[in-house]
Amino acid sequence: MVNLVLLGPPGAGKGTQAAGIAKKYDIPHISTGDIFRKNIKEKTPLGERAKSYMDRGELVPDELVIELVEDRLTEPDCKNGFLLDGFPRTVFQAEEFDKFLNENGMNITKVINLDVEADELVNRLSGRRVCESCGASYHVKNIPPKKEGVCDTCGGNVIQRADDTKETVLNRINVYNDSTRPLIDYYDKTGTLVTLDGAAGLENVFNSIIKAVGEAL
Ligand code: AP5
Ligand code: MG
Ligand code: ZN
Repeated sequence: MVNLVLLGPPGAGKGTQAAGIAKKYDIPHISTGDIFRKNIKEKTPLGERAKSYMDRGELVPDELVIELVEDRLTEPDCKNGFLLDGFPRTVFQAEEFDKFLNENGMNITKVINLDVEADELVNRLSGRRVCESCGASYHVKNIPPKKEGVCDTCGGNVIQRADDTKETVLNRINVYNDSTRPLIDYYDKTGTLVTLDGAAGLENVFNSIIKAVGEAL
């Protein structure tokens, strides 16, 4: 099994890199943010509860997230492993996740931490566009879709995310620093962490991820 966790601040490129990694190892890309956005779009009770937190750039309460991920990981498409993007995001989530992995005789192959400085994160997120249907990430300048407003992969609508306004972006970065950054230390201690330069070009980042994962297999 290849069990991967993508760690990194908002805009680090987790979603962008996830598609290629998932394909390479034939594992599902599980983005908690994408799951919440789908629930918001479909107006489910979970979506209704998550929306106010997400709109403000705050974290959704731990109890809404942990069970959701654990349920998702028991689905048949996780037979070869999984690629988590945006989970865990607090030390509490990481501890609960460790318990779940232990109980199920599983472990994490690698935690990939994408490192990008704050100015570049703001620049990336203010120009980001995402596919409403498949979640693919684009950037108005860096990585535009071939046809404006249309997803290269699935033909879906390419839109701006509700939480990509300047004010919310800055709050998300603060929330990351307070609640998620401590996970770098947490996973460093377990020996599963690798920190990579997320500011390099798309292909360079991808190649360094594949190399680090390959060494852990
Ligand atoms: P989530 O959807 O996870 O958002 P995020 O963590 O803020 O991360 P982003 O999706 O913004 O960044 P990314 O790293 O995926 O960047 P991307 O690849 O798109 O979470 C949203 C919300 O959901 C949270 O705020 C919270 O409320 C809630 N939530 C989710 N999980 C939760 C949890 N576990 N607990 C509690 N709450 C939770 O790239 C960004 C831009 O950069 C794009 O424009 C892209 O084209 C560009 N780019 C990418 N790579 C490069 C490169 N190498 N060079 C140049 N440009 C690049
Ligand atoms: Mg993302
Ligand atoms: Zn798409």
